[in-house]
Amino acid sequence: MTLADVPSTQAGLDRLRETRRRVEEAVLPLATSIDGRQFAFQASLHGLDVRPGGYVVLEPAGGQAVLGQVLDLRLASQDAAEIGVSGGDDATAMRARLSIRHALGEGTLLEPGATFHDAMMRPATADEVRAWVERGRARLEVGELALVPGVPCRIDARGFDRHTFLCGQSGSGKTYSLGVLLERLLTETSLRVVILDPNSDFGRLGAVRDGTEAAVADRYRAATSGVRVFSARAAGEQRLRLRLGELEPAAQAALLHLDPIDDREEYAEFVQLLGRGVPPAVESLDEVGRPDARRLAQRVRNLGTERHGIWAREDPGSVLEAVGDPDHRCVVVDLGSLPTRDEQALAGAAVLGELWRRREERRPVLIVIDEAHNVCPAEPADPLTALATEHAIRIAAEGRKFGLYLLVSTQRPQKVPENVVSQCDNLVLMRLNSRADAAFAEEVFSFVPAGLIAQAPAFGLGGALVAGKLSPAPALVRFGTRVSEEGGSDVPSSWAASGPIA
Ligand SMILES: Nc1ncnc2c1ncn2[C@@H]1O[C@H](COP(=O)(O)OP(=O)(O)OP(=O)(O)O)[C@@H](O)[C@H]1O
Ligand SMILES: [Mg+2]
Repeated sequence: MTLADVPSTQAGLDRLRETRRRVEEAVLPLATSIDGRQFAFQASLHGLDVRPGGYVVLEPAGGQAVLGQVLDLRLASQDAAEIGVSGGDDATAMRARLSIRHALGEGTLLEPGATFHDAMMRPATADEVRAWVERGRARLEVGELALVPGVPCRIDARGFDRHTFLCGQSGSGKTYSLGVLLERLLTETSLRVVILDPNSDFGRLGAVRDGTEAAVADRYRAATSGVRVFSARAAGEQRLRLRLGELEPAAQAALLHLDPIDDREEYAEFVQLLGRGVPPAVESLDEVGRPDARRLAQRVRNLGTERHGIWAREDPGSVLEAVGDPDHRCVVVDLGSLPTRDEQALAGAAVLGELWRRREERRPVLIVIDEAHNVCPAEPADPLTALATEHAIRIAAEGRKFGLYLLVSTQRPQKVPENVVSQCDNLVLMRLNSRADAAFAEEVFSFVPAGLIAQAPAFGLGGALVAGKLSPAPALVRFGTRVSEEGGSDVPSSWAASGPIA
């Protein structure tokens, strides 16, 4: 309605508004599908009861009702035919052009079938959605559907044969939800899991929370008896330890900050010694006696690498042996327990390198990297971290065919190499406040409907969008509760309510 068209009397305006309201209310919720897979619809804005991610039933006249999911919803405005409006007396009778506002949207049919035109659309009931979930092949129950409370959200464990990207701002619930996913995987499948845990969050993955129902607790304990946690704080078998000699040459060189170009002579000596089985340890280097070997020994002394607590020394075995041992169902590498950044980077690079080295064994393993922006950042700050990033990129690009599946978790997608993010076919997206991050996610994960990614800023704690092979349809989910205890949980915020210090 343009200003020039506005009837000049209050009565005329009221009539006009009333007419518009009635026309807008009368917009029918109608949907059309021209391919039996997607549908487009219109609906009235009055009492609008559909939302992106929500479920609807489409009922074609004379056809079979079909369940659909709304992926996108927007406000539309349309010029209606010119109508006559009377102000109550003939003097103010005039013609005005109305603009009718309504909702337009698109969605996908959850069980593709026949095409239809102008099918009546209504929100699906919880029972209808539940019946669809139960007909599906997905079995891992990770929580409930956020838009249909009480209806379980099930993901398809087979989807873990693709790489998975878990992303959300700090405090959105990534680590907690990752724990839920891992618990369900450990209980319901036989997939091996190796966890790089920079924040010491999974050290108690095998410990059941107080108050857990006895049957659930027993089942969980049985499923997690093969969880092995390696921590620098533990003694004996569980101590997080490495042997210098078992590290790949690239890791040893990175540990010594040796560059093949900048440190040509020392590097050549290093390669020669490795070939002869001499580890780059001060004692053995001093024994060699050559000037470059002495320089190497000095480098080892200066860097203090031999003082690191991570070396196995007289203890047998190492974390790399455990990582390669198929009898260990789940290996948690508690990187956070290591006291120095160098040792954390070394352990991260060594574990990823070992998994890659063993790729020909073709034993399926889920490689979980929490806080991936610390383990394999897009811009590594030192040679060992650069090596870890290199391994992550290689596994992302080529690991899948060897059964090496990544699950990478981070706060911001840009902080992890794009070559890793773009190889992920599954997305678990939690709350993202930054528009730039949401736009980036939209661009990289073009297989996920943009209208659903756009919901991410509104997610609450534990709220997520799960999309890709993991989920039969992109699902807005509220993650369920953990069975196991959380490790280093957030610092309690009780200080806010405790009043000033007396
Ligand atoms: N579904 C949930 N139910 C109950 N509490 C939860 C849930 N999800 C997360 N929390 C709690 O919220 C807090 C933050 O969660 P979490 O540590 O998983 O966040 P995060 O995304 O991993 O953050 P960061 O990026 O800083 O590591 C934790 O104290 C955790 O216990
Ligand atoms: Mg976390």
